[in-house]
Amino acid sequence: MEKWVLITGGTKGIGRAVAECLAKSGYQLVLTFASDVEAAERARTELASHYGVEVHALQADNADITMSVELINRHLEERQLYLDAIIMNAGQTCRDAFEEIRWEDWERVFRANVHFPVFLLQRVVGRIRKGGSVVFTGSLMGIEPHSVSLAYGVTKSAVHSLVRNLVKFLVPYEVRVNGVAPGFVDTEWQKTKPAEIRRNIERKVALGRFCEPEEVAEVYKMLIENKYFNGEIVVVDGGYSYK
Ligand SMILES: NC(=O)c1ccc[n+]([C@@H]2O[C@H](COP(=O)([O-])OP(=O)(O)OC[C@H]3O[C@@H](n4cnc5c(N)ncnc54)[C@H](OP(=O)(O)O)[C@@H]3O)[C@@H](O)[C@H]2O)c1
Repeated sequence: MEKWVLITGGTKGIGRAVAECLAKSGYQLVLTFASDVEAAERARTELASHYGVEVHALQADNADITMSVELINRHLEERQLYLDAIIMNAGQTCRDAFEEIRWEDWERVFRANVHFPVFLLQRVVGRIRKGGSVVFTGSLMGIEPHSVSLAYGVTKSAVHSLVRNLVKFLVPYEVRVNGVAPGFVDTEWQKTKPAEIRRNIERKVALGRFCEPEEVAEVYKMLIENKYFNGEIVVVDGGYSYK
């Protein structure tokens, strides 16, 4: 039987690395993205040709909950696809100073990080196979308070709480739910930070470096395939808290 996984924000960064890790093991993929059509098409064709799996790329911005949830659900329904896992990975941030945050931006971050995955899951939970799972991308910043983005830290804490609260709601579906809380993963999200800030981060990590996307991707695969993990948030931070 074909194995299918849906990854939101699956065309770049952590999502793309998870896609690659799963494609290597023969999973077929549905990847969503927000706006970069060219990168999405590149990810789709590269993964399909390197690993011989079917890969679909869907432009479905978390910002528009009604439209994107409907689009994803229709895509799955029309092809009669049943999923082994959903990776709720796409996320947004807002780095404005506390004094300058506009409620529209605060709301945008909540919509993308918390509201969208809840309502996507509500719509497609019946398409997850029994024994399947949902994996959320949380963040170390949802555990360790920080001073860069209030909305980001609060929404990622909410994501961790969502994981634990969903466990009981997903029992009737025989679906597990877990989260990964990455520390600092070397994606575009981090690469665009000034060199001095990157050095400060490296100094705080016990291993002295950023995490490679491939390293964190293996944790998602483990959470999909290990059938006893449920309600866990796995921190992958290179020992950030221990230095
Ligand atoms: N990198 C880190 O250090 C780190 C640490 C902890 C947690 N995280 C979390 O990991 C997740 C992925 O981050 P990343 O570093 O891999 O980012 P990234 O390299 O910037 O990749 C972002 C991916 O998500 C898609 N995306 C962004 N906003 C979206 C939206 N509103 N709707 C649908 N898709 C959207 C992008 O599509 P387009 O290319 O079309 O925009 C792209 O495919 C986020 O939830 C982030 O909070 C990252």
